Amino acid sequence: MDPYYQYFNAPNEAPINFYDYSYDRKTHDIVSLFQKAINGEYTAIQCYGKIANMAPNPEERNQIIEIKQDEIRHLRQFTQMYTTLTGRKPTPQMTERCPTTYREGLHFSVKDEQETVDFYLDLAEMVSDQKMKQIIQRAAADEQNHAVWFLYYLFRLKR
Ligand SMILES: [Fe+2]
Ligand SMILES: [Fe+2]
Repeated sequence: MDPYYQYFNAPNEAPINFYDYSYDRKTHDIVSLFQKAINGEYTAIQCYGKIANMAPNPEERNQIIEIKQDEIRHLRQFTQMYTTLTGRKPTPQMTERCPTTYREGLHFSVKDEQETVDFYLDLAEMVSDQKMKQIIQRAAADEQNHAVWFLYYLFRLKR
């Protein structure tokens, strides 16, 4: 490999493009990513309802219900963005089965929330609409906050 070239292509890092790709060129990819986000939010809503019911005390139960309310807001916002992009309503689908114990639920949630933060930050960079970008970045911040709550409850459970 050209030794000079390597400085411009760090592994695992996308090259920076200083020109704006046309939105249309990326729309197809972006729509499938919005579909993925919608399925993820939909699955989280179902599972957090179940996990909240397994919580050992009202404090944790109420916090998880509050998190579920955030996911309902995210689902509504992603649905609006999807509808704007495609002109049709999405059909949300469960992506996985919900955990069956509280401990498993917390594990599942920490991991899922953390992965969703990454996913949303990447998605926010892909969209050119500033309003959409802001909504997705705010959702990423919410998911990061959720991850910390679930991690805290997991920590308390282990003591
Ligand atoms: Fe969410
Ligand atoms: Fe979340």
